[in-house]
Amino acid sequence: MSYFRDNVERTEGYTPGFQPKATEVVKLNTNENPYPPSPRVMEALAAIRPEQLRRYPDPLGTAFREAAAELNGVQPENIMCCNGGDDLLSIAIRAFCDERRPLAYPVPTYSLYPVLARLQNCEVIEIPFDERFNLPAGLATAGAALTIVCNPNAPTGSFVPVEELASLADRRAGVLLVDEAYVDFAEQNCTSLVKGFGNVIVLRSLSKGYSLAGLRFGYAIAQKDLIDGLIKVKDSYNVDALAIALATAAIKDQAYFRRNAEKIKKARKALSEQLRSLGFAVPDSHSNFIFAQVGAKDVSPLPAACIHEQLAQQNIFVRYWNAPGIQDKLRISVGTKEQNAKLISALKAILSAGGDRP
Ligand SMILES: Cc1ncc(COP(=O)(O)O)c(C=O)c1O
Repeated sequence: MSYFRDNVERTEGYTPGFQPKATEVVKLNTNENPYPPSPRVMEALAAIRPEQLRRYPDPLGTAFREAAAELNGVQPENIMCCNGGDDLLSIAIRAFCDERRPLAYPVPTYSLYPVLARLQNCEVIEIPFDERFNLPAGLATAGAALTIVCNPNAPTGSFVPVEELASLADRRAGVLLVDEAYVDFAEQNCTSLVKGFGNVIVLRSLSKGYSLAGLRFGYAIAQKDLIDGLIKVKDSYNVDALAIALATAAIKDQAYFRRNAEKIKKARKALSEQLRSLGFAVPDSHSNFIFAQVGAKDVSPLPAACIHEQLAQQNIFVRYWNAPGIQDKLRISVGTKEQNAKLISALKAILSAGGDRP
């Protein structure tokens, strides 16, 4: 007999990417930003007063809401702070889904969605992307209470144009959550949909573009009615006083943020080209990672699992999933110039030795 509800007992739980203890590694497996957070963030940290820790934080993170509203051209009432984007995903699935209210999303995508759905005991409708990662037409008619589209998508790095998401929001009765955790590296975003559609929630994260994965901070943008409903579901103090202060400092330093995003986009282009020249098939990425298919031009490719393993032995970490449809691919976060160069030279050695296999 288990103490847990049946669906909790059956759920495996999410497997986060490996976090190596050593610091002298090339860590390209969990899409962190390779650059440090803005110096303004460190100044805000140094300025924290004991009183801010003694008292409970502002439950709504008003300072951050105001800064994020200004940045996105909306009102503070259109913003809800969360303990990372993952917190918003959990809040939204708890708010909209249950046994009779399914969750839908295109696959492959972020593997946390089905884990959260199972915990909520809700049906999951998974509709495959086609080979060009176009939005599946079936999403509009799936009858889901909540549809999540990750855009840019993880792990593919593909991007669905905003007009297509507007048309999806328009054609369906339930809520559309656009997971924009990686949007800081794309050319467009879905903020404008919030003005036109009362059923759209946009998710943002400070983990990637703002180099704050360790802080745990994200936010929702939506019309006031949706935000008010989500606030009922969230923990009362879901973001702490330090996080509110540091996240606010981070989004106010747009110049620093934009410089780093541009450096990553430039490095992404160079790394994609180098991987292609090594024989990987690399679709254009709109994110801070690259989804590379091994052995596209090779008759007898070394399996992706093997390359992943051999890189790890050299303290170079990329992400691999032994899952249907993506077993032949590696997801590689874009690092600094030096990190990317180390990856490419290790790959060259591994592939040339692999070619000598019996
Ligand atoms: C697609 C996607 N959405 C949301 C998140 C959540 O990010 P965080 O909770 O770090 O803000 C992640 C994290 O990797 C992600 O890959």
